[in-house]
Amino acid sequence: MVNYMDYVNNVNETENKEEAREVGKISYEALMKAKDMIKPGAKLIDVANEVENFVIDKGYDIAFPLNLSINDEAAHYTPAYMNTKTFGDNDVVKVDFGAAKDGYLGDCAVTVDLSGEYSNLVDATKEALENAVSIVKAGVEIKEIGKIINKTIVDKGFIPIKNLGGHGVNIHELHAEPFIANFDNGDDTKLVEGRRIAIEPFATLKSAKGLVTESETAEIFGFVEDNPSRLPYARNILSGIKDKYNSEPFAARWLADKVKSKFELYSGINDLIKMESIEPYNVLVEISGGMVAQTEYEMIVEKDSCDIITKL
Ligand code: CO
Repeated sequence: MVNYMDYVNNVNETENKEEAREVGKISYEALMKAKDMIKPGAKLIDVANEVENFVIDKGYDIAFPLNLSINDEAAHYTPAYMNTKTFGDNDVVKVDFGAAKDGYLGDCAVTVDLSGEYSNLVDATKEALENAVSIVKAGVEIKEIGKIINKTIVDKGFIPIKNLGGHGVNIHELHAEPFIANFDNGDDTKLVEGRRIAIEPFATLKSAKGLVTESETAEIFGFVEDNPSRLPYARNILSGIKDKYNSEPFAARWLADKVKSKFELYSGINDLIKMESIEPYNVLVEISGGMVAQTEYEMIVEKDSCDIITKL
């Protein structure tokens, strides 16, 4: 049993950094593909299918379903099975995605502002990320990263989202310690050379609360354990999950071929949640309905700087 403080302060020496870089590169390629496809009138589900299949066709797995969170949604929205929703003229779309291989997980995000009215908000998160990355190196305290993110966002006239932030990345563990807040939270944990982290400033309007909460909607889930269900179609879905999606999060729509109808898919999923065989990752929305932007890179902490791995 590894104590989490050991994990924070130690690095898994067996990690293959080349493989992490390879996964980072394909994640970023997929992210740019999604970015190019997001246009008013385009269907969300077409973007999700094409980008996810791009990664699969290249021989990689998926770290988590393509997130396309719009306006006050900050994270965790992915299209439902047979969903016909299209991007609107004024949508601000957070695209968050990662490829995977042998448990190495990519994680990167951009915001596409179709309205053209929130470029300052988007830029605040980009600049906050660049400023944060410029100070990342072995020995830096987590709170220093939060402090520079907060300052950059506030100087631009916005506020950070306080209960979303960056994180360590381990093999098969996307959200590992340490949590990297987007403000100075007093955490004096020091970053260690060789550790993989993701930094992801989220910003919203000054008039908003700067906090997210879970909405009713969930389209992304994680496997917990195999608890027997009475419903035959729920059992089919669960066997599909155990086959292919037992370590990384999955989308409900990925299990559509295990059932005969959309009704069976979603009532089966609901039964699996009730049986605690799977857990939902509900869509996270800004509490006061504030517009949200996000930018994210994954990187490896080095002695005197860091190596951004989600790039070409
Ligand atoms: Co992340």
